[in-house]
Amino acid sequence: MLSFESKFAKSGTPSMRLKLLFCLILISVEVLAASPEAVYGRGGMVSSRSTLASAAGIEMMKQGGNAVDAAVATAFALAVTYPSAGNIGGGGFAVIRFPSGEVITLDHREKAPAKAHRDMYLDKDGNVIEGLSRNSLLASGVPGSVDGLLTLLETHGTLSRKVVMAPAIRFAEKGFVINWYMARSLGRVRPRMAAHAASIEKFSIAGELLQDGDVWRQPDLAKTLKAISRHGRKGFYEGKVADLIVAEMERGGGIISHEDLKSYESVWRQPVHGTYRGYDIWSMGPPSSGGALIVQMLNMLEVHDIGAMGWGSADAVHLMIEAERRAYADRAEHLGDPDFVDVPLAMLMDKNYAQTRFSDFDADKATDSNNIYPGKAGKAESLETTHFSVMDASGMMVSLTTTLNSSYGSKIVVPGTGILLNNEMDDFSVKPNTENQFQLMGREANAVEPGKRMLSSMSPTIVTKDNQPVLVTGSPGGGTIITTTLQVILNIVDHKMTIEDAVSMPRFHHQWKPNSIFHERFAFSPDTKLALEAKGHINFVESKWGRGIGDANSILYRDGVIQGVKDPRADGTAVGF
Ligand code: GLY
Repeated sequence: MLSFESKFAKSGTPSMRLKLLFCLILISVEVLAASPEAVYGRGGMVSSRSTLASAAGIEMMKQGGNAVDAAVATAFALAVTYPSAGNIGGGGFAVIRFPSGEVITLDHREKAPAKAHRDMYLDKDGNVIEGLSRNSLLASGVPGSVDGLLTLLETHGTLSRKVVMAPAIRFAEKGFVINWYMARSLGRVRPRMAAHAASIEKFSIAGELLQDGDVWRQPDLAKTLKAISRHGRKGFYEGKVADLIVAEMERGGGIISHEDLKSYESVWRQPVHGTYRGYDIWSMGPPSSGGALIVQMLNMLEVHDIGAMGWGSADAVHLMIEAERRAYADRAEHLGDPDFVDVPLAMLMDKNYAQTRFSDFDADKATDSNNIYPGKAGKAESLETTHFSVMDASGMMVSLTTTLNSSYGSKIVVPGTGILLNNEMDDFSVKPNTENQFQLMGREANAVEPGKRMLSSMSPTIVTKDNQPVLVTGSPGGGTIITTTLQVILNIVDHKMTIEDAVSMPRFHHQWKPNSIFHERFAFSPDTKLALEAKGHINFVESKWGRGIGDANSILYRDGVIQGVKDPRADGTAVGF
């Protein structure tokens, strides 16, 4: 049976379909709930965690905009309709491929404020003060999203700021219907927002927690978005909004200053590029670790015939875990902000280096990454961070991942602005060899320094072959972002899956330390698990949420058709035409 979206994408004239789409969105968001079935189109596609945000992107393409216009509209809309990760108070990375085949990347990751310093999260005895890098105003880096999105629009978009921001402003001003997913999420986070009156107010109607079916309006956020729409980056980094951010910092012990905000700039960076079995892999370089690790792991895997081993076989899983174990060890040692530390990127992505690094691989035996560090149970990764994929009819592709770090960031809303602040400072190594919230280890390369960007795992990725578009993918999920993206690529390239299967199949993750295999419920059959244990793999940790690893909203271009799929693990929709 065709999904609603598939039928929708194939029926009626384009303008009829667009009108119908918006009518249906207004009537009931749930009608368009996530479907594991792909949406097909030739005109354009957006796959995101929010149906309204995907529709906002398509609205731009319908007005003649390109994939960048659509991506910017989607990202601003996500700040309204998916507040746990969509943001204007956080940061992100964008990878863009032009029809010519050129690929560029924009780093709009948050930066440490000028007053930040190496030991700012330690007590006088040098111990980490629990929660300070996550649940306080000191947890926030200087937000980069607004500068990044406006830079993308100004340099590669075609529509005006007013047009591109209109859907987000509309959703904030007129409101939208809260669905079950969001009501559940808001109920879960509320106790952790209790200390912050502006946060409770933002997520309430007359003081009561928002419920499934309520129409939620965000008047303060609408005002902030209008200021950005009218004044550009000055509407956020200067003027009243900046005054309110700095006032909140001064009230509550934060350190972001007017100068930090005014001087924030996103940075164009060289994309990370690797090859895998004839495909070109384009991803985000440092300060993300994602692209480098994906290329490194693909280089280790390339000489082994994973396709012949079979999806989910103990041999293939063993091989992937061993590659992950080595790559994440390199992450902890070598990766950080390239503006501050020398990242040996060429070495990490070199095919010979990968083979040397993998030369101790034993097809029958797990390597022990845990001689010093005791293995322990992993936490469930929340779906903080969000990834969306965009493609237009010209072959322009945008892969964009954005984040507040934890779900709802620091949980602190700046009074009068509707802006939720990130807690991205926790992505620094607040003390060498100490885990962050994702149990990722870091060392000096990722120590806190003023103006430095914290290391990320976000891996917005584009795959091409013979200079033709193939795949747009990426994911949220802390350290699991990288292995989620890797698995989608392997599923397409080695296992020749459909995009639905490539995104839906159960996932697993190993990150060197802790020496645990974090996995979704049905990732391993009982006999596969036994075979892995026989090779020496230990500490199998099942995701608490049954299916909880990643949310890889992806687009595949195959046989001249754009195929969008929403990861069925969470809400949202791919919308195409
Ligand atoms: N905050 C998650 C990441 O950037 O990896």
